[in-house]
Amino acid sequence: MTEIDKPQREVDVPADWTYASAPESRDIVHIRDRYGYYVGGEWLEPAETYETIAPRDEEPLAAVGQATTEDVRRAVAAARTAYADGWSSLPGSERAKYLFRIARILQERAREFAVLESLNGGKPIKESRDVDLPLAAAHFFYYAGWADKLEYAFPNRRPRPVGVAGQIIPWNFPLLMLAWKVAPALACGNTVVLKPAETTPLTALLFCDVLRQAELPDGVVNIVTGDGRTGAALVESEDVDKIAFTGSTEVGKEIQRRLAGTGKRLTLELGGKAANIVFDDAALDQAVEGIVNGIYFNQGHVCCAGSRLFVQESIYEPLVAKLERRLTTLRVGDPLDKNSDVGAINSAAQLEKIRELVASGVEEGAEIYQPPCVLPEKGYWFAPTVFTNVAQSYRIAQEEIFGPVLSVLTFRTPEEALEKANNTPYGLSAGVWTEKGSRILWMTQRLRAGVVWANTFNRFDPASPFGGYKESGFGREGGRHGLEPYLEFEE
Ligand code: NAI
Ligand code: MG
Repeated sequence: MTEIDKPQREVDVPADWTYASAPESRDIVHIRDRYGYYVGGEWLEPAETYETIAPRDEEPLAAVGQATTEDVRRAVAAARTAYADGWSSLPGSERAKYLFRIARILQERAREFAVLESLNGGKPIKESRDVDLPLAAAHFFYYAGWADKLEYAFPNRRPRPVGVAGQIIPWNFPLLMLAWKVAPALACGNTVVLKPAETTPLTALLFCDVLRQAELPDGVVNIVTGDGRTGAALVESEDVDKIAFTGSTEVGKEIQRRLAGTGKRLTLELGGKAANIVFDDAALDQAVEGIVNGIYFNQGHVCCAGSRLFVQESIYEPLVAKLERRLTTLRVGDPLDKNSDVGAINSAAQLEKIRELVASGVEEGAEIYQPPCVLPEKGYWFAPTVFTNVAQSYRIAQEEIFGPVLSVLTFRTPEEALEKANNTPYGLSAGVWTEKGSRILWMTQRLRAGVVWANTFNRFDPASPFGGYKESGFGREGGRHGLEPYLEFEE
């Protein structure tokens, strides 16, 4: 009997290749019914609360305080006392010990934090587990390393802390933005009042537990929750020396106006409309992965998202075909499912904004593509979207959408790519895809963006400074540069 004649055992070929669900257990997280403010190492009872929910299904998670001007004043006073009572004069090597401890505790409790982050914010567990948590811990490790080396970081400039820092953060990377703000501030000897975003307060509140575990002296970090009114009260607080803000350009401008002439220090990390530029010699499959990571990572709720894709004309058709094919393989669904690539939109308000801008794209004449996918009925969801036939003048090519929506444009020459890429009020990040090293250098020198990635996108490292030009804000976070906003220099 030849090989071919042998009777073949029939194997059932599965007709359906959908993934079985693989939910991460939420038992590891204990959410309290009600949270107050963490001030001077104590929990203050809030007079007024609001409900924070899970965007995947609108399940209420906890009652959280809406801090008043008076609550903020108490938090700032606690930070001032802690500053004067020893934190600012503690040797750097002692401050470092606390930061190292915090970093290690975050690593130990990473799963708990990742589950809570995905539950409260809607991002896929895969991302909170593999990106947000490792990076948050890495920031504390990194700045712990600088705490006793500030004189070497700034030779002959005699650095000293600024004082009390008021820090206001957004909802797209709640714990990671906390780490970006708190770690350098503490390393430099400042104390902090931090306000998380109203939709995502829970990991910041759980972080208070980490502070206790690390035995950080009371009042060095204080956390008040609430919406923009609480943020405004912090900005206006007399006894704050520095404000660090990450959020919308609109609020950033408002804060800058309020602080004009007060002598308070300010750093702003605002919106973006990044160009991701693919040349005809780029490795197309890799570029497609980078494009997907650039705009669908974290549902596109990323200030440095590659939301404007510029493709060299000669490869436009094959690239868009590959991209659309790749989109059909993205799994949109439960943030706590380990298979999900794209989770829930953070809030009803953000979903509304995305819908409105997408409708404007259709209206203005762009061609829309969305892969077939079944979206859950409850909660806030939006399918990954690609717009082709986009003109530079369309709103979807100009405004920050902050959702899983990509606008594809074309170019012929590097000069044209550059001109179109820089034609934006923003300047936070950009991406360049090409095999030619010389072209990468030529482009990166001319792109007006704080961060430029070459043959990759959305890579972060605590050692690398991050920040923008123009309406994307000013000041740098990360790296040695990230220490400067938290230091005064006696020259
Ligand atoms: P937002 O700028 O209003 O909120 C960010 C933070 O600022 C929150 O903690 C908020 O409570 C606080 N805040 C709001 N008003 C304030 C005020 N007057 N004074 C002080 N603090 C204030 O951003 P929002 O409304 O959540 O999102 C709107 C758009 O902003 C998004 O669609 C997106 O385009 C952009 N955005 C950009 C972010 C970034 O990382 N660059 C982050 C969040 C939003
Ligand atoms: Mg707002």
